Amino acid sequence: MDDLLPRPRIADSAPGSFEFAPGAAISGTAELVDAVRLALAVLDLRPAEAGAAVSVEHDAGLGAEAYAIAITSEAVRITAGDRAGAFYAGQTLRQLMPAEAFRSTALPGTSWTVPCGRVEDAPEFSWRGAHMDIARNFLPKREVLRLIDLLALHKLNRLHLHLVDDQGWRVESRAFPRLHEVGSHRAQTTTSFFGEEPTFDGVPHGGYYTLTDLAEIAAYARARAVTVVPEIDVPGHASAILAAYPSLGAKPDETYHVLDRWGISPAILSPLPPTVEFLTTVFDEIIKALGDVPYFHLGGDECVLDDWATSAEISAYQAELGLEAPADLHAWFLRRLADVLAERGIRAVVWDEAFVSGMLRQDTVVMPWRGEAVGRRAAAAGHDVVATPVFPMYFDYAEASSAEEPVGIGDALTVADVAAFAPAPAEWTPEERARMLGAQFQLWSERIPDGRTLDYRAWPRGCAAAEITWTGGPAEPGFLPRLDAHLVRLDAFGVEYRPPAGPRPWQRGGTGWRRHRPGVVPVHDVMKHLDEMTHSADSTRPSM
Ligand code: ACM
Repeated sequence: MDDLLPRPRIADSAPGSFEFAPGAAISGTAELVDAVRLALAVLDLRPAEAGAAVSVEHDAGLGAEAYAIAITSEAVRITAGDRAGAFYAGQTLRQLMPAEAFRSTALPGTSWTVPCGRVEDAPEFSWRGAHMDIARNFLPKREVLRLIDLLALHKLNRLHLHLVDDQGWRVESRAFPRLHEVGSHRAQTTTSFFGEEPTFDGVPHGGYYTLTDLAEIAAYARARAVTVVPEIDVPGHASAILAAYPSLGAKPDETYHVLDRWGISPAILSPLPPTVEFLTTVFDEIIKALGDVPYFHLGGDECVLDDWATSAEISAYQAELGLEAPADLHAWFLRRLADVLAERGIRAVVWDEAFVSGMLRQDTVVMPWRGEAVGRRAAAAGHDVVATPVFPMYFDYAEASSAEEPVGIGDALTVADVAAFAPAPAEWTPEERARMLGAQFQLWSERIPDGRTLDYRAWPRGCAAAEITWTGGPAEPGFLPRLDAHLVRLDAFGVEYRPPAGPRPWQRGGTGWRRHRPGVVPVHDVMKHLDEMTHSADSTRPSM
């Protein structure tokens, strides 16, 4: 019981063990039986009427996502507060078995034993998330489904899908098909680092999910207690949308292209009513595909407002609304879209620029990527907050400042850094702490071209993120030894994580485009700069 990850609230072992037999019976409340069977799919448990040695029942005394397991040599009795709790009880039992439980099928000769004892468990935070940027580099549906499986086995429960950026639009639109026909691909991709002579790979890149793919992803996630949070990032980061529909731009006569390089672009949507109408239609398509959508992310980050300031039509609209500056119009626009979502019973989520510009609905959730100080201000203003600070939650930073690493945007951000993080700092007031929903790690994908690199960036830092969001953080000192035992499970699953001692020979950066530049962009310097940005008068101006 000592190697469970994330660490349960109580896990006491007793002498003896219980042995599962593949195909054994499980009885109890049907919905909960289904959840346990899914978590323990490798065992192919069969639902039984009643009285099976393995059982699961609802316990109204347990909260959301909570569960308890009592294991004797004769029986495994699970109680759960809800379906997610039952699923997590199954995940805990899977971790108590040999690591073979993480293979795709039961290998003959495995002894599926779990130690006798009891586990009582519940999460500290309700938002335990991962963000996946499929805009910069598209990853096919199978990678999304696989990431959902990996989140689920770590009891992570949110998948934030960054579905559009300057470099690509990633979802079908039946109402506005040029979005996926034109916006979803580019002719080539840059291979150079900031400040270097630009070079390109000369290889077309693209892809998008159909609305039916999105429905499948959401249903697959929901079954595994993961909520998909779609993000349509507006009004900036708009080159792909404007390549498809230039008339929505602040400069409607401009020709836009899906960008083939990284960084912040000045391309911005117009805030005028036709844009709101267009986005409402697109949001509705996505909401309908996803089904149950509690949260919808509007982005709002890194907007260059120059084209708003120089447009007579937009300036006149700003004046008509009684707003003083383009920054106010930025706030107004995001508020307008959050109202559209609220009419559909959905809460908006935004990056912290939208909070700083100061016109949010009270129920809007803020993601303070530029640091703890702006997160605390949002919490003090009564917003629910999800901690997403660059340090230590941007996993596009390399784990070591070393030429052996594959290229990262900067360095260094280690497993220990993530493990030491507490999303709700002790010095915050109880009211501020109560606003902290949890935390999520970001997989910005400029330098994540494929699933193998995604594995390397996500794990084992994602294991530490699971630990601190489940337990509240920081992780206790036994976390790193416990992680070593957990990595054997990831080996069995087939995860190409970054080994604690450093990359394997074939995971190194080499001498080509994948070469890391140690020390060029130190993450702590970036954090200092971003924190200063959140205090500046024009906080919507791009930061890096
Ligand atoms: C962000 O990193 N622009 C949210």
